[in-house]
Formats: sequence, structure tokens, C-alpha cells
Amino acid sequence: MKKNLLCIISIVCLLLNAKTYAQNNNDTLQRKWWKEAIVYQIYPRSFKDADGDGIGDLKGIISKLDYIKSLGVTMVWLNPIYSSPNDDNGYDVSDYRNIMKDFGTMADFDSLLKGLHERGIKFVMDLVVNHSSDEHEWFKQASSSRDNPYREYYHWWNAEDGKPPYRYSLFDVNHDAWKYDSTTNSYYLHYFSRKQPDLNWENPKLRQEVYDIMKFWADKGVDGYRLDAFGFAAKDTTWPQFPKGFEKHFSLYYSMQGNLHGYLQEMNKEVLSKYDVMSVAEGTGNTLEDAHNMVDANRHELNMAYPFEGVDIAKPEGYSLLHFKEVFSKWDSTFEHDGWVAVFLANHDQARMVTRFGNDSAPYRALSSEMLTTFIMTMRGTPFYYNGDELGMTNIRFSKIEDYNDVGTRNEYQYVKNNGGDTTAYIQRKAFESRDNGRTPFQWSNTNNAGFTAGKPWIKVNPNYTIINEAAEEKDPNSILNYFRKVVQLRKDNLVLVYGKYTLLDKGNPKVYAYTREGEGEKLLVVLNFSTTSSTTDIGMNISNAKLLLNNYKDAPSNNITASTVTLRPYEALVYKLY
Ligand code: NOJ
Repeated sequence: MKKNLLCIISIVCLLLNAKTYAQNNNDTLQRKWWKEAIVYQIYPRSFKDADGDGIGDLKGIISKLDYIKSLGVTMVWLNPIYSSPNDDNGYDVSDYRNIMKDFGTMADFDSLLKGLHERGIKFVMDLVVNHSSDEHEWFKQASSSRDNPYREYYHWWNAEDGKPPYRYSLFDVNHDAWKYDSTTNSYYLHYFSRKQPDLNWENPKLRQEVYDIMKFWADKGVDGYRLDAFGFAAKDTTWPQFPKGFEKHFSLYYSMQGNLHGYLQEMNKEVLSKYDVMSVAEGTGNTLEDAHNMVDANRHELNMAYPFEGVDIAKPEGYSLLHFKEVFSKWDSTFEHDGWVAVFLANHDQARMVTRFGNDSAPYRALSSEMLTTFIMTMRGTPFYYNGDELGMTNIRFSKIEDYNDVGTRNEYQYVKNNGGDTTAYIQRKAFESRDNGRTPFQWSNTNNAGFTAGKPWIKVNPNYTIINEAAEEKDPNSILNYFRKVVQLRKDNLVLVYGKYTLLDKGNPKVYAYTREGEGEKLLVVLNFSTTSSTTDIGMNISNAKLLLNNYKDAPSNNITASTVTLRPYEALVYKLY
């Protein structure tokens, strides 16, 4: 009897809870755990090395679980941890049911997952199935003879038919996506490196293999998938000629082709709908319609889009805040009524957030990092936050190609060199934009190798670890790290930051980004100064009663509000509750 009563009470509570933000017929406002999640992305190779081989590993992450918990994040996304020869640091998988030797064992994975779950943190698996490694058993079989049963797991062009129609490769030294294979006198397709042959999604057997792999991990208890490069998975296998110069807009020709939506719907039916897992696409296709078709609730494909347009704004010569506002406002309004979006300013394919979007010079590094973090955590959409940014880690700015590890950066250098290009200018540009800037070891302390490894790190440690490191920031109540924790808590305490309507204010202001988040009778105001000078915004409403919830300066701003204007110090971030 008592049990029944408890049961009824908890169902009523659940219903009441579920009602919030969902009274109207708006799919965006339907409450879901993955919309309320705060994702922390860990680059496993660079996070923490437990066995002294210079490479981060699962035991290293396990040793830092309490740190991860202390951040307040609710979900962890790990870049690929499957067996791999590491041509592209794990994005070339040789066995989808095993753990990369450098990273540990399946037992380590099981304890990592358990450790996360015990701390109330969910786990996102990177699913790399546009391509495999050429060292995967499927490819070894497929390339052994033309009539091997695995042949159709990949894309081939018989050499007796002449040269295949040109396809651009992102990582190939010649930009050529067809690689000749003498054993079977044919070419195989690789949109990425030669060691990453594209899988043939047009083959139903291959698709079933992938669904089985997904079930294997879902049965282990993973809580979500991030679909690597999946927009490229479907191909037009009549291999039409593409117009000359197509590679400048290759995505238009590669993304969302053929029956991609059919495959996603099939994946949803076969796997995603059977588990309580979330799914995030890499990219959004070519149009807003593509994005909707991939993530709107009634499509039964994926849960959220991951638009690159935001991270693409930052350029070595700077960027315009007006453009930044326009892009993020567009993605918010796109999904105002249906679908959902990931919000991020960095990941393992980008250089450091503070270097690209903020200002990593000494006076402004902390303030601008915190300001950008405030932005990510106060937008509608699920925040994806990249490890190390919570410390304000910066670009290392390598000055020679030998320091780089990334297959893309190295092969493109070779391409530039082979084609008589300016390698000095190339290296200068890469110091700003190469993804290796975001892959240097996590800076734990000011001890040897930043406390990342007892061995020789696989990639150089940023020498600024003596100043920028977790141990030092832990002790300082005003550190970037402790500010990060506050902003995360603010998001968790205010559901309006997840679901509330976003309204851009003072749109034409080139220095200040101001917006409100509003819903269920609550209204928050966010004002962010993206510049090194004191700046004022007129937000066009009386805010004299505003209550300050958060700011990133040690001392609260005084007299900075008049009836409708707010004046901010350089890179100041302010969040108010409005009454
Ligand atoms: C996108 C991943 O984020 C990137 O790191 C990788 O190199 C390519 N896909 C190929 O898998």
C-alpha cells in the first residue's frame, strides 16, 4: 500500500516536472535529459597518462574522475578509443569491439564507464563509421581479391576502366581520394587519409555490421553516440564527374547524398530507438532543411545537430562580432520550434578557444576565456566543452612542421611544398589554426611535463604550463577553472538557460553581445564584452531592478547600469536576473 502511494507520488512528480517548458506543442521545448546535459569532451591521448608511455590512457582518465565530477559536467565524450594504428589518432579503426592498446583494455573501459555512472555522469562514444582503417580485417579481406565476400564493404574502381572520376581527399598528399591497389588492380576510395578507406553504406550487410557494433556498446551501457563525418557516408555509386574546382565546396558534393536519411532512419529503428541513448551528428548537411531533416523529432533520425559555422568564424586576421551574433542567432532560431543543436567554440579539430575567439595575451586570457565560457553555457542547445579550455589553455604555435603530429597538417604541408606553395606562410597560418594546438597535453601542474606523463609526451607540452595549470587554478578562488564551475552550476540551476526563448538585443553593437533567455515567468539577461575596451550596450528596456547572478571580475561592477544601458569592462561577462 505504502509502496503504491510512493509510486503514484513519484509519477505525479515526474509528470509535473515533464510539463515544464512543454505545455505548448513545441518539440524544442519537450524536456529531454540530453538537452539538459553539459558535455565535456576529453581527448584521451592528451588527458592523463597513467603508465608512463607518454600517451594518455583510460586509467589516466579514471584517476581524474573526481576532477571531472568536480566540474559539474553531466556527460563525457571521448574521442575514439577503439583499436587503431593511429594514422588519424583513432579515427582509423581497426577493430570496433576492442580498445586501443595505447589506451588500455576492455576492463579499463568497463571501470571507466562504471566510475562515470557512479558519479552520475553519462558517456558518449565516438562512432567512426564513414570509414575504417585499412588495417581493419574487413579491408584486409576486401583488398585480397575482387571476389572476396568483404569486397563490397568498401568502394572500388577497376583500373581497366581507366582513371576514376576525380574525388578530393581532405588528408591526402595529392588531394586524391582514389588510391591504387596493385593486388586487385583497382582503386579504393578514401575521403580522408589513405589509411581510412570509406565504408560502403549502400551495402545492407555493412549497415547491419555497424548496427551490431552499436548494440555491442549500448549493451555495455554507453549513453550516446557522436557520428563522425556521417554526413559523407552515403555515396552516388554511379560516380558522376564533378565540375572542375568542386573541391572548394566539396561538402556540397559529399554531404547528405543518396539515401543518407534512409540509413539514419534505419539506424534509429534498429538501434537508437531501442536504448535510452542520445545521438549527435557531426555537421548539419548543406542547408537548414538538411539539418532539420536530420534532427527534427518526427524524423526519427538523430537528436542534435553540430554546426561548424560558429567555429569557422575565427580567422588569423580576426573576426567580426556582428557575424558571430548573426550565426549563433540563426542556429538558435532554426531550432526554435523543432530539432536541437550543440553549442561549442572548440573541439579536437580546432585550435584553442581563447586563442581563436578571445585574447590569450596575459591581461585578457582569463577574462576572455571566462566570457566565452559564459556564452557557451547561456545559449539554448547542449553545451559541448573541450577539455583544457576550463583552464584557459592556449595555442602552442609550433614553428616547424616536425613538431606537428596531425596527418592533415603534415600532408597538407607536403602538398603545399610539392606544388611550389609558400610553406612559411602555411606554418604561420597553422600556428593559429592547426588542430594540434588543441591537442597538446592537459596541464595538470607545474611539475615535469605539466604532470601529464612521467615519460616523453607524444606531442610537446605547451611551455606555459608553469603558469597555466590545474593545480594552481584549484587553489585560486578567482581562477578560470573555478569560474567555469560557477557557470556550469548557474546553467544547472536555471532551466531557462536550457529551454528559454533567446532574444538578441542591441544587434548592431560591434563589441557587446547581449541577449535575454526567457520562459516560465523567468528572464535572464546576458551581456558579454568581446573587446579590450570598456563598452556600453543599450538593451532597450528598463533594467534598473536587475539582480546580478554572475560576473567574471573579482569585484562586482558598480554604477554600470542606467535605465537601459550596461557598461562593461574589457571582456566582462555579466548575467542578470530581470524582474
Ligand atoms: C572528423 C573528426 O572529428 C576528425 O578528427 C577526423 O580526422 C575526421 N572526422 C576523420 O575521421
